[in-house]
Amino acid sequence: MPKAIMVQPPGGFANVGIAEVASRAPGPGEIRVRLHASSLNYHDYAVVSGMWGPTTPRIPMADGAGDVVEVGPGVTEFAPGDRVVSTFFPTWLSGAPEVIGFATVPGDGVDGYAREEVTAAATSFTRAPAGWSHAEAATLTTAGLTAWRALFVDDHIKPGDTVLVQGTGGVSIFALQFAKMAGATVIATSSSGEKLERLRELGADHLINYREDTTWGKTAWDLTGGKGVDHIIEVGGPSTLEQSMAAIRVAGHISTIGILSGVSGRLEVVPMLLKQFRLQGVLVGCRVDQQAMVRAFENCAIRPVIDRSFALEDIVAAFRYQESNRHFGKICLEF
Ligand SMILES: NC(=O)c1ccc[n+]([C@@H]2O[C@H](COP(=O)([O-])OP(=O)(O)OC[C@H]3O[C@@H](n4cnc5c(N)ncnc54)[C@H](OP(=O)(O)O)[C@@H]3O)[C@@H](O)[C@H]2O)c1
Repeated sequence: MPKAIMVQPPGGFANVGIAEVASRAPGPGEIRVRLHASSLNYHDYAVVSGMWGPTTPRIPMADGAGDVVEVGPGVTEFAPGDRVVSTFFPTWLSGAPEVIGFATVPGDGVDGYAREEVTAAATSFTRAPAGWSHAEAATLTTAGLTAWRALFVDDHIKPGDTVLVQGTGGVSIFALQFAKMAGATVIATSSSGEKLERLRELGADHLINYREDTTWGKTAWDLTGGKGVDHIIEVGGPSTLEQSMAAIRVAGHISTIGILSGVSGRLEVVPMLLKQFRLQGVLVGCRVDQQAMVRAFENCAIRPVIDRSFALEDIVAAFRYQESNRHFGKICLEF
């Protein structure tokens, strides 16, 4: 029988084990997928580590990529052999956000993709970019689509714009790559000089060590010649928002994405009024946007930056590696 990782409530690394889950033939509108890869996100870490652990036994991981092995009645979009990648919100197919919370999200409210096989609605997958490895495709579900939506759905960045990305995690590196693809100037921050050099190799135009330069928002503002940054990928949360507000231009756009420094903090309202910027909350994106992103990847040279991969049964070691903050880009599971 196909193997799966199972997290027992209330979560925590000691409550992670391997289970066997029976195969199921696809019903109408469903596909059966042999999964080969997943990728780690902070949200998955929160579930598995017990920070936001499950209340019932749960197969973790929102990201999944693999091959279609069987299609159910009525499925015309996919055929056996197609390479597919999962979507974060299986029920949010298109249009404006309509889902609140994580009740429908694989790996959180419902079982996810740390498993060798799944049978699910065909609409909970899209095609993967042609020629990509399963691990590369698996990075798109959460990190890739979040960066894509921030820059091309909620905003429409254009050549000559300035985009600021924070740190060297999956979302920020995708955002850096997308911003360069669009002809934008990129200001990138990191806590590590070595990682900043790698960001330069990926095309970052200006580099700031946010540990050494605690008023990096002002530094970024100055780098734009006092015009301000057009778009900020805000993944730090409470400890970075003040600096992001210092860096943003009048009527700029801050995508509020991450909570790496915590979930609450002080918010100065006056700079928001003075600068009249948009502070846009982001929770990944919809299936149609993922399809658009896949098409874009098939027409450009960008490939995901994968730091390293672990075996499915080494999922706890993979999360411990994520905890160490040594990674640059994505950490994957391959199986
Ligand atoms: N809202 C959404 O839709 C959505 C989707 C995906 C992820 N997220 C969130 O976005 C955040 C980043 O996710 P990810 O998957 O890209 O994470 P990740 O791959 O684990 O990246 C974390 C990186 O961010 C940097 N970092 C850590 N603490 C920081 C801080 N206080 N200020 C600035 N940078 C900091 C570090 O880079 P350096 O070592 O270079 O400093 C670290 O390596 C997480 O909070 C995650 O939950 C939200």
